[in-house]
Amino acid sequence: MDYANRQSTVVWIASDHGGFDGKAVALDHIQSLGYDVKDLGTYSKDSVDYPDFAKAVARKILENPDHCGVLLCGTGIGISIAANRFKGIRAALCTSEAHAKMARKHNDANIIVMGGRTTSPELIRQMLSTWFSTTFEQGRHIRRIEKIDQEE
Ligand code: RB5
Repeated sequence: MDYANRQSTVVWIASDHGGFDGKAVALDHIQSLGYDVKDLGTYSKDSVDYPDFAKAVARKILENPDHCGVLLCGTGIGISIAANRFKGIRAALCTSEAHAKMARKHNDANIIVMGGRTTSPELIRQMLSTWFSTTFEQGRHIRRIEKIDQEE
């Protein structure tokens, strides 16, 4: 993995119904930052199952390791648990700009997760701006993130 050059301009986004409104806020903001956002649903507020959307984004990132993703459900909890079942996915549930910054800087998280029902539109935009302007520090953190995926 070339950690120095892994930031693509393609961003995969998805949510369940609980994250639907937040996804619209996030999508607009990421586009305004100049990224090519691919929306994998959900496309209405009808009730759906968050693991389906976690899996859709996780698969795209595993196919394209230099891409990153954005996931939302009501709290962000279920969809982050589901995404993190995939080896190679580091989905960080963020509730502050500090989380968004450190998730990129130390954890090289490849998916930012937010709670659509627990996060204001302003905070969604602030966390995304921070996420996309922060790069992975590499160094000792490479060894640590590689240990996450090592078999026991
Ligand atoms: C859906 O009602 C809700 O459970 C879901 O969006 C999420 O919050 C789960 O963690």
